[in-house]
Amino acid sequence: MIREEIEKDLTAVLKKLRISSSGLILEHPSESNHGDYATNIALQAGTSNSKLKTHNAFDLATKIVNTWRSLGLPAYLAKIEIVQPGFINLWLNNDYLITQLEEVIKKGDGFGWSNIGKGKTVVIDYSSPNIAKPFGIGHFRSTIIGTSLANIYRFLCWKVVGINHLGDWGTQFGKIIYQIKNNSLDKLLTVKDLEKLYIDFHKKAEKKPELKEKAREWFKKLEEGDSEAKKIWQMCTEISLKEFNRVYDRLGVKFEQTIGESFYQDKTKEVIETAQKKKLAVKSEGALVIKLPELKGPPALLVKSDGATTYFTRDLAAIVYRQKKWKPVLSIYEVGSEQSFHFQQLFAVAAKLGYGQRENFIHISHGLIHLPGGGKLSTRSGQTVYLEEVLDEAIKRAKKLGCKDEKTAEMIGIGAVKYFDLKNHPATNITFDWNKMFVLEGNSGPYLQYAYARTQSVLRKSNHSKFNFQNSIVKNDHLKLKPEEVSLLRALYKFPEVVMEAGENFSPNLICNFIFDLAQKYNLFYNRLPILKADTEEIVNFRLALTTAVGQVLENGLSLLGISAPEKM
Ligand code: ARG
Repeated sequence: MIREEIEKDLTAVLKKLRISSSGLILEHPSESNHGDYATNIALQAGTSNSKLKTHNAFDLATKIVNTWRSLGLPAYLAKIEIVQPGFINLWLNNDYLITQLEEVIKKGDGFGWSNIGKGKTVVIDYSSPNIAKPFGIGHFRSTIIGTSLANIYRFLCWKVVGINHLGDWGTQFGKIIYQIKNNSLDKLLTVKDLEKLYIDFHKKAEKKPELKEKAREWFKKLEEGDSEAKKIWQMCTEISLKEFNRVYDRLGVKFEQTIGESFYQDKTKEVIETAQKKKLAVKSEGALVIKLPELKGPPALLVKSDGATTYFTRDLAAIVYRQKKWKPVLSIYEVGSEQSFHFQQLFAVAAKLGYGQRENFIHISHGLIHLPGGGKLSTRSGQTVYLEEVLDEAIKRAKKLGCKDEKTAEMIGIGAVKYFDLKNHPATNITFDWNKMFVLEGNSGPYLQYAYARTQSVLRKSNHSKFNFQNSIVKNDHLKLKPEEVSLLRALYKFPEVVMEAGENFSPNLICNFIFDLAQKYNLFYNRLPILKADTEEIVNFRLALTTAVGQVLENGLSLLGISAPEKM
């Protein structure tokens, strides 16, 4: 990658001047007229090195650049500029940029791929909805962001184990089993029915608190393997999974493993014993807890006073299981921000019990999705927003945009919902807004898909099934590139860097920003310059090459986001 090459070359220059390169950072200036890369190394070195303090940063930058010149400037550079108070700005030349255009076309759907993750395993825990509750919009965020992170890590050559940690265990099942046993139900077919039973239970229990005891008893029976309790639990799981799988199919989401909390039932003993042996677990009012004074909050609950294990204990057991089975160097949990404290506790305890280092674990905590009025989209507020209904509505809206057929409408509708989520940093709270989701002249899924379809339509019309790209490269010096062309060239080569950055920062939104910018640049190019009717065959070829490359990068970017790229719209 060119970034590494520049770093290497600059490091050699700095070495010659005996300046430490540890603070060397290359950035893309936010304004393109400041170059392709910029570094503030002269400013940094001036302040960190006492010998150099006498220099002002501008002079030092000049010295660096002069030394570089004397060593011979690399062929990829077109221009270097020193600007106050001491920045060094670098421009790549068109020849170099055109070699990258060639790279995109040569590598195709592998452009942006890198092997930095080779030999490393990452476990990504995402989606993880709860049995007997509808698949809501909150789990949608985890599903979509988690899927994209999994795609990005796979593209960076990591071994990715995506896990759906289903919420299929816990005291809530006692309530549902109680309800099923004590209501004459003629049919119980959907998750909505199950949810209703759960809500009804809470209403009833307000008047009759003793029901809670009954529910606890049922859960206890379930934990002890009572066959009747187990049968009802099994039925709930099947009903829910049927619906969840339907959602996953529609979203095109997959997991390497679907392992619910119930799986860890018999594996919690081991972690409890370890915690006791290490003298971390202490009795507190009949329960077993781990005190974590450094976290300033309640202790972590391992075993409740009635002997039931907890969400926390099962998560600990899951860590042990995952470590044994996959030996991940990184475990990512894509879960809502309301569980931040749970994960702080979990990671702290895991480290104390010797299940990994704190830095092996990361909670990617997504924000809430609000309704426009500010209301929360959740199950308990009674304002449930069912994901499937959102998807149906999205497809309807895609049809209104004039999609050709059902399949395209699905691609556009579902892509719009996904992109609306992904374009934000995961931690951002989002306000649900149908209009923004489908805006054709703004940062939306349909806008990007439209740009992609446009590139494909140009290529279809070209009939140059094999345009002679090689020739146009060789002769590029007399192509006299137009600014719209150069701006595309100056964007395309960055894609591999963006993918890496998105992975390092767990931020699919960086890919969104990049492809949105690229799509805008392409639309400008398309509106201002003739492609097929350009003056010479050579220019036609070159513009087709640009079109091919832009289409390819848009497609690669969308695919990392888990969004389909339609050939036609
Ligand atoms: N089922 C949980 C919930 O909906 C999310 C589980 C997340 N994953 C985990 N390993 N705790 O709240």
